[in-house]
Amino acid sequence: PATLADLAQRHGRYLGSATDNPELVDEPYKQILGSEFNQITPGNGMKWYATEPEQGVFDFSAGDEIVNLARAHHQKVRGHTLVWHSQLPDWVTSRAWKAGELRAVLKKHIQTEVRHYRGKVFAWDVVNEAFNEDGTYRETVFYNTLGPGYIADALRWARQADPKVKLYLNDYNIEAVGAKSDAYYNLAKELKAQGVPLDGIGLQAHLALQYGYPTTLEDNLRRFSKLGLDTALTEVDIRMILPATEEKLAQQAQWYADVTDACLAVRRCVGITVWDWTDKYSWIPAFFEGEGAALPWDEQFQPKPAYFAIRGALK
Ligand code: G3I
Repeated sequence: PATLADLAQRHGRYLGSATDNPELVDEPYKQILGSEFNQITPGNGMKWYATEPEQGVFDFSAGDEIVNLARAHHQKVRGHTLVWHSQLPDWVTSRAWKAGELRAVLKKHIQTEVRHYRGKVFAWDVVNEAFNEDGTYRETVFYNTLGPGYIADALRWARQADPKVKLYLNDYNIEAVGAKSDAYYNLAKELKAQGVPLDGIGLQAHLALQYGYPTTLEDNLRRFSKLGLDTALTEVDIRMILPATEEKLAQQAQWYADVTDACLAVRRCVGITVWDWTDKYSWIPAFFEGEGAALPWDEQFQPKPAYFAIRGALK
């Protein structure tokens, strides 16, 4: 039978999953990860704390493990992520940097990592989660020390290190048209006008049944397309307040179908990645008390209605 990857490929899209190094000892898990998807994103292994735990000391072993596994299954890899305020090593956060110092640190981090994965990842989430909900810049160590120009700089440095890789900005709660997605729209327009290398916008799409469906998703994808940008749904999961009932699982399935339809409807939406594929390894229960069941397969690796809904949308 056709896999999700096969079905997506018929539309010129990929269907991917995040994964994380500790899970790779689980053989039945690896089997589905390796067969059902044609794209992989490392959930943690390429983040700053993992790749440059001490200043100037680089460790790509976690990311390499996932890249090698993906290669063995002919899957493309999304690089995640170069510049983010979270999961930074202490040496970055525990110092008051002079702007010139931090610029040099940031440039070296970006370029060393991008060079390492050159030809091995098709895209980079260069800057992750740069905006607040109201569309103002998030006050991170990078923003506070370097000003908003750190984003353009990060994109330019990444481009220097790999002329071919697709460069993305990525965030959550930007699925619908609204203050936060407007901030990306306006920034992207500005960066394009200035000739800054930007190829796409990643919409994480961590959705929750209790907050309602982002009905303007397709319009939103389309307006980024019209700027000449690719889009991708980069971290999809659809959580619910537990327990999971038949009714909630049916609604979740409908949302997975709707998300898939939205991407297929917009030519430059290049693919969909779920933030891992089984509830066994979802980040949700640890972060949102009483919530979960967010992924298309349950904890026992049984496909849920959501899985069949994605298939239906891809057919
Ligand atoms: O590495 C330690 C381990 O030594 C320790 O024993 C264990 C005990 O809690 O924690 C481990 O660190 C955890 C880390 O994942 C690696 O597994 C952290 O506690 C945990 O907070 C961290 O969570 C990750 C989260 O980002 C951090 O914000 C999730 O796995 C990861 O899926 C999640 O991914 C993010 C995207 O990068 C960006 N968008 C949102 C998305 C969900 O938060």
